[in-house]
Amino acid sequence: MNNSEMNIDGKAIQFPIFTGSENKKAMDISKLRAETGYVTLDYGLKNTAVTKSSITFLNGEEGILRYRGYPIEQLAEKATFLEVAYLLIYGELPTQTELDTFISGVTNHTLIHENMKKFFEGYPQHAHPMGVLASMTCALSSFYPESLDPSLNEKSVDQTILRLIAKTATIAAWSFKNSVGHPVMYPQNRLDFSANLLYMMFAKPTEEYVINDKVVSALNKLLILHADHEQNCSTFTTRVVGSSQASLYAAVSAGIMALWGPLHGGANQAVVEMLQKIYDDGGASKANIDKWILRFKDKDSGQRLMGFGHRVYKNFDPRATIIKKAADEVMEDLNVDDPLLDIAKQLEYAALNEDYFIERKLYPNVDYYSGLLYRAMGIPVDMFTVMFALGRLPGWIANWKEMVEEGQPITRPRQIYIGEKKRDFVPLEQR
Ligand code: CMC
Repeated sequence: MNNSEMNIDGKAIQFPIFTGSENKKAMDISKLRAETGYVTLDYGLKNTAVTKSSITFLNGEEGILRYRGYPIEQLAEKATFLEVAYLLIYGELPTQTELDTFISGVTNHTLIHENMKKFFEGYPQHAHPMGVLASMTCALSSFYPESLDPSLNEKSVDQTILRLIAKTATIAAWSFKNSVGHPVMYPQNRLDFSANLLYMMFAKPTEEYVINDKVVSALNKLLILHADHEQNCSTFTTRVVGSSQASLYAAVSAGIMALWGPLHGGANQAVVEMLQKIYDDGGASKANIDKWILRFKDKDSGQRLMGFGHRVYKNFDPRATIIKKAADEVMEDLNVDDPLLDIAKQLEYAALNEDYFIERKLYPNVDYYSGLLYRAMGIPVDMFTVMFALGRLPGWIANWKEMVEEGQPITRPRQIYIGEKKRDFVPLEQR
């Protein structure tokens, strides 16, 4: 291990350099405060690696994303979502027997406690399904209180993982049913994960539901593309909450909340709403697109081109490339002619040729086309981020598990206080 040297207040301090398996380098400053009294100030943690991890590799300059070493392009093409979930959580692609056991474990847990069904009746019909999903996920801990034991053994952890993957899908689908005022549909364990999810969302007790294999395959791909993305806001949140030894349900529920925001997973909903506004405002005409591009460049407008830009990708987001192709295919297969797709393509073209976006290395991210794909599949806008959450679940679990197994300490950063210096209390009548 090499060292880097820094001169602080005239004193030379050595910091070990840590090199990851893909040659990324970090300066290990764990002794900084003890040896110098200084801390680092890094808003948004833009320069801080919060952990070492062997789950996902991401190279933003070259647009590379790999889960446990496997390129995302190969996984999206060849694997199933539960196979990828197993890979992320347990580190290796499963053998057939391991996969069968994992799938049957998940399938065994798809039902949720009947009492939880009553919770849905308490939510207003238009409750956002992300809020419902987060609170119901946390509520699972009251039905499986053994998960609250920080010294959980491996078997109980595995069971909690299976429960989470299975039950969040049922909760997500039922939160959608609640929002449209339809009766919930119980899971069908003969179906695979993606088909079952679509069944629980779209089947009705009054008619037969025909499963469209192309939609199932597109959903499988979307879930895989979202399955992990190293230390993004929601994954880091899951780690932070998990680091206090709160249960896995609590940690994942917090992750769902973090994902909800429009700068993170909520961007897929925001993109479609933005495209709709542009459409209503004058459609895909050059004049209209140029007007909106001007607005996105203007900081005072308070509007960003949603679905563009990424903290890590500064070249292209490999997930966006795959999703754009899938969106084209699904729309063609299902004979969907969505005018918003045209707007999205014109807007993308205009932005990619505009200095503002070129200079700042702003490219379409995963959320730019995913909303349009969900729309083509018949999934309503409110549910887009919920679908993202179901996809990201294995990543949250894998990160939580890695952190717990490594025995990482509670996350508790420092701050630099900039408030008032000590002053004496002023009685109410003298203020
Ligand atoms: N439209 C217009 N300007 C932008 C955009 C955008 N979408 N994104 C960044 N910029 C500008 C920003 O104003 C800043 O300009 P300047 O240097 O002149 O001040 C510069 O580009 C750098 O932006 P930043 O906000 O400092 O970059 P960041 O790494 O903190 O933020 C981001 C990354 C994804 C939050 C941001 O690009 C953004 O808000 N994008 C739109 C929302 C979005 O699509 N989010 C989904 C992200 S991918 C999926 C996920 O994470 O869940």
